[in-house]
Amino acid sequence: MTDQLHNRHKAVLPDWLALYYGRPIEITHGEGRHVWDAEGRKYLDFFGGILTTMTAHALPEVTKAVAEQAGRIIHSSTLYLNRPMVELAERIAALSGIPDARVFFTTSGTEANDTALLLATAYRGSNQILAMRNSYHGRSFTTVGITGNKGWSPTSLSPLQTLYVHGGVRSRGPYAHLADAEFIAACVADLEDLLGHTRDVAALIAEPIQGVGGFTAPPDGLYAAFREVLDRHGILWVSDEVQTGWGRTGDHFWGWQAHASSGPPDMLTFAKGIGNGMSIGGVVARAEVMNCLDANSISTFGGSPVTMSAGLANLTYLLEHDLQGNARRVGGLLTERLRAIAAQSPFVREVRGRGLMIGIELVKPGTDEANPAAAAAVLEAAREGGLLIGKGGGHDTSVLRIAPPLTLTVAEAEEGAAVLENALRTVC
Ligand SMILES: Cc1ncc(COP(=O)(O)O)c(C=O)c1O
Repeated sequence: MTDQLHNRHKAVLPDWLALYYGRPIEITHGEGRHVWDAEGRKYLDFFGGILTTMTAHALPEVTKAVAEQAGRIIHSSTLYLNRPMVELAERIAALSGIPDARVFFTTSGTEANDTALLLATAYRGSNQILAMRNSYHGRSFTTVGITGNKGWSPTSLSPLQTLYVHGGVRSRGPYAHLADAEFIAACVADLEDLLGHTRDVAALIAEPIQGVGGFTAPPDGLYAAFREVLDRHGILWVSDEVQTGWGRTGDHFWGWQAHASSGPPDMLTFAKGIGNGMSIGGVVARAEVMNCLDANSISTFGGSPVTMSAGLANLTYLLEHDLQGNARRVGGLLTERLRAIAAQSPFVREVRGRGLMIGIELVKPGTDEANPAAAAAVLEAAREGGLLIGKGGGHDTSVLRIAPPLTLTVAEAEEGAAVLENALRTVC
């Protein structure tokens, strides 16, 4: 049955729509932190459909909100007042930290970043964008043009002129050997130098922790230091919080808060977790920036009553159950446990991350060389053991990515770590 579906998938869907596993699985249902496949196998889910099932699978509060709203009205469009959309916008504006915030809802992270690019380029009258090396910001024509990861950027044609900045990857590259403060100083000097050769850059866009890039991050404070330089040039700062938002990093509600001495960014973009699987993306910007467009703009499906109701129920659950605190506590324990396991494996170069966003970088033993074959094999062995994880990383996909729903319990963290320990042993 599953094999047949795989054949049908290959016959009708694009080749570049990659599936995990030699024998891909069909997930038919889920509950809490677990999912089941069509062959009845149960898995502990440490990837949440790419960091998107944020609270839990089949969370009753969210499914009830969806069902009730769908029973009333599914779609009305942005031409009419939409109570759940206004309510969610109010709550996100208040949480964003951005003064005089306005919120525009889209249906994906790509479209959210696309909107941020439209706003920044219109506001600044420039098509020049600063982005980080090893970044990922989406799949549209504009967002692949600011994606500094060749594995996810299928064309170099772009309406934007993009300049790539150092700093998103702490432990590789020309500044890796420097101490944190020196690393930041070197990246700032590089940025200053770059700006000395350009004029009128519109914005810097950056993921506080790079997601697809393998959960890499700069030292805390880098973006605050960048902000000082950007301010001198009038350049906007856009924080792409598609993976790092809503408390996943444990220490902070937004990733930008690790660089908080700068104050909030001019814009932040969000998607993934807020809808717990319903398609919500969006941009928060101060009013002056959001309102700079002098033509109409809509997203037909953005802010649909059903997705907004799901987002409201999901956000309420997240805040009432302090899932950011849970991410910090359980994520901290899990990271410690994974570091202890990694210390026994010559294949692990680094265990890194924050909260429930943890990366394990694999290399060829005794070298610094990426080991995508080992990453693929551990992914496969973990699945065999009943655990779903993800992978990512810069030029070679050699980083295991662990990002479970934020309700993860200590017992589940222990269970998943034990499966990973075995998986690493099998392969190595
Ligand atoms: C940081 C970041 N930005 C943007 C996107 C694009 O979001 P979407 O796939 O919803 O378009 C992603 C998706 O993985 C992401 O990780």
